[in-house]
Amino acid sequence: MARMLNIALPKGRLGERVYELFEAAGYACPALMEPNRRLIFENEAAGVRYFWAKPSDVAIYVERGAADIGVAGKDILLEYGPDVYELLDLGLGKCRMCVAGPKDFRDDYARTLRVATKFPHIAQRYYAAQSRPIDIIEMHGSIELAPIVGLSDVIVDIVETGKTLAENGLAPLQDVVPISARLIANKARYKFCTAEIQTLTDRIAALLAQENEAKL
Ligand code: PRP
Repeated sequence: MARMLNIALPKGRLGERVYELFEAAGYACPALMEPNRRLIFENEAAGVRYFWAKPSDVAIYVERGAADIGVAGKDILLEYGPDVYELLDLGLGKCRMCVAGPKDFRDDYARTLRVATKFPHIAQRYYAAQSRPIDIIEMHGSIELAPIVGLSDVIVDIVETGKTLAENGLAPLQDVVPISARLIANKARYKFCTAEIQTLTDRIAALLAQENEAKL
């Protein structure tokens, strides 16, 4: 008998789009889209149990095996480096990690660069590769404020439409890495449920391929 898959989805708009993809692939759980505050939903017939997790926590549920698979942003995977399998790029939630700052910013190499970010590891790696000494200022939100009020010189953050930067008089200065949502799996659970997880992955990959073909 097929094993029930525990799937951690990122709560919010991205998670809803991801669920639609899973639904189209044959893993529906209609109760999931009902307007209530429940966090766990199950459809025994389809062999799935979904959790709504905070997007930045999905990788933790999967790494520790509380969920067999999940969907997490590449930003989170690069920042925390969870020990999971990355199975598929879902091509959803596309954005980019950027260095951003005042439009006329010129780096002064005589000084340590002050970088405000929610992604200290990504920022450290990016500047270490350029041998540029930096001072990381780790923040938890509203990063755009830091260079405006003189707390930092630049920020390393996610840019989607660029609207937040533009409305705060800032601009993207350098691209660090492109970001999108990834299907991930717990390593031990993947071994135990290979057939179920691989079937799901293949069905979703086939749907994405169809969608891409239709766009051409
Ligand atoms: C991200 C990021 C920017 C904004 C960029 O924040 O930190 O503030 O989105 O989007 P834009 O280029 O379309 O304006 P998010 O909304 O994820 O909230 P958070 O700061 O709470 O993580």
